[in-house]
Amino acid sequence: MGFENKVVLGALPALFLFSACLAEGTECELGSCPTKMGNSNVNNVTVMAPAGPRGEAGPPGPRGGQGEKGETGRPGKLGPQGLEGQKGEKGDPGQPANQGAEGWGGGAVYIRWGRTACNESAGTVTAYTGLAGGALWSEKGGGSNYQCLPADPEWGVYKDGVDGLKAYMYGAEYQLNTDAPYDEATVDDREVPCAVCYSLSRRAQMMIPARNTCPDGWTREYGGYLMAGYRDQAGRSKFVCMDGEPEVLPGGEGNQSGALFYPVEARCGSLPCPPYVEGRELTCVVCTI
Ligand SMILES: *[C@@H]1O[C@H](CO)[C@@H](O)[C@H](O)[C@H]1NC(C)=O
Ligand SMILES: *[C@@H]1O[C@H](CO)[C@@H](O)[C@H](O)[C@H]1NC(C)=O
Ligand SMILES: *[C@@H]1O[C@H](CO)[C@@H](O)[C@H](O)[C@H]1NC(C)=O
Repeated sequence: MGFENKVVLGALPALFLFSACLAEGTECELGSCPTKMGNSNVNNVTVMAPAGPRGEAGPPGPRGGQGEKGETGRPGKLGPQGLEGQKGEKGDPGQPANQGAEGWGGGAVYIRWGRTACNESAGTVTAYTGLAGGALWSEKGGGSNYQCLPADPEWGVYKDGVDGLKAYMYGAEYQLNTDAPYDEATVDDREVPCAVCYSLSRRAQMMIPARNTCPDGWTREYGGYLMAGYRDQAGRSKFVCMDGEPEVLPGGEGNQSGALFYPVEARCGSLPCPPYVEGRELTCVVCTI
């Protein structure tokens, strides 16, 4: 028929035109019925038809572009504790520390016999000074060790008066009958000073008889000559190291009773000679470390 068709989609106008088509007795199929319009221009015909069945879903579209970065999410909850890790490698050694202050060595205390003070230039402190004392040379009992008695005694409970049933303490004297090892004229029968010395930085002390020097690494505190009580007197004593340059206490020049210091001579026999020498006065040295 050569109509110019114009398809208008929409259910309502399509139903209206279909009804008009049937009213004029025209055979036509759904969607292809020509409609005679109000004017005479038959070539200007608008054809309207109902919507066809829904087509199948088309293929998926192309993949979209990447979206913008989202906002930062909220922190998540703390997870469960994990298993213990393996031991790490050993670290590098640290840097050496600064040297600490010099500490207190811990107890090198000794008596310097025959001197009124310790040698404080050698890092030693004088704990106290005094005079040598001990038991009487002629008595069998009492103490045997010489004492460094302080010049300013303090007292406790006492009962004055010599009771007899006691030990006795006497002062002490040098006893010399030769000029070896000390000058008899200036030292014999004089009272003996003493000083108790504390070596701050050293921890041990020893007296070595028959030596005048200390082993390597030790500090020589002082040296001199070995002295003890007379060999044939009843009282016992100890060997002590008298200073090599002994001082005397003022006064006391007389030969008074008391504890006595005699030089000590070597006697060969069980003592090997050489290196020892018969009748030679023995030296001594006090060392700390
Ligand atoms: C078709 O008809 C319409 C309305 O009557 C009109 O406006 C239009 O110009 C016509 N078109 C042609 C090609 O005749
Ligand atoms: C004191 O010690 C110094 C250093 O060891 C020494 O040179 C000096 O002779 C000592 N003095 C005495 C009196 O011992
Ligand atoms: C000194 O006294 C002691 C003990 O009393 C005595 O053995 C000695 O002979 C005396 N010495 C002198 C020189 O008087």
